[in-house]
Amino acid sequence: MKETTIGAESLAQMVERAVAALDFERVRRAYWEQEEFVFLERFLPPAVVAEHLLPHVQRLRPDVHRAYVPRFKKGGSVSFYTIGEKAPAFLELYRSPALLAFLSRLVDARLSLCPEEDPHSCALYFYTEPGDHIGFHYDTSYYKGARYTVLVGLVQRSEGCRLVCRLHKDQPGREPRELQVATEPGSMVIFNGGKLWHAITPLREGEERVSLTMEYVTDPRMAPLKRLFSNMKDAFAYFGVRALLRGRR
Ligand SMILES: [Fe+2]
Repeated sequence: MKETTIGAESLAQMVERAVAALDFERVRRAYWEQEEFVFLERFLPPAVVAEHLLPHVQRLRPDVHRAYVPRFKKGGSVSFYTIGEKAPAFLELYRSPALLAFLSRLVDARLSLCPEEDPHSCALYFYTEPGDHIGFHYDTSYYKGARYTVLVGLVQRSEGCRLVCRLHKDQPGREPRELQVATEPGSMVIFNGGKLWHAITPLREGEERVSLTMEYVTDPRMAPLKRLFSNMKDAFAYFGVRALLRGRR
């Protein structure tokens, strides 16, 4: 795979530098205090996003697959397969060894990339039409182990569209706490998908929000029946039947 270079640096090196610049102890404390959720306001410099990732976002627009699930979600997405073919820069980010090592240390587990047949492993989500949103949910893992979600903000030209999280929702003896996050370009959110009750609030007229989502797992195995269910859900709620068939190739 040809590397994306930024001056003399590759995107992978840039990510390595971003990881090295973090105050790891502070990030770790916040992550565990917030029930396995942390928001890094500026992980990548916005200029890097603007120059090196946004051109790919633009190029992928014709490939956005829109889906509407009544009372749950409305929006567009681009799957791992399309990203692999047309914008592999995002995969450089996803596969960055420095990022993977940092995340494993943070969540106290040895993380792996998702298997290549998982269209969510590294995907883009487009909120471009009024009312685009996703209702409250957990990122249910169909894998044998836990699954962690890492979101990188790319476009946040929106007042309406926010990531909203309810921390400690099911924790006895703790007051639930609601957090609202605008995922500005270069920001990063890391959470344990099975534990964080979260939603994206509706986009308003004339606004736009685009984010990259990357998934990491503790055990990349999945029972065949769960794989079937996961595929069906992806085909109807996210990427379309064509993406499902391509993933099987
Ligand atoms: Fe989610």
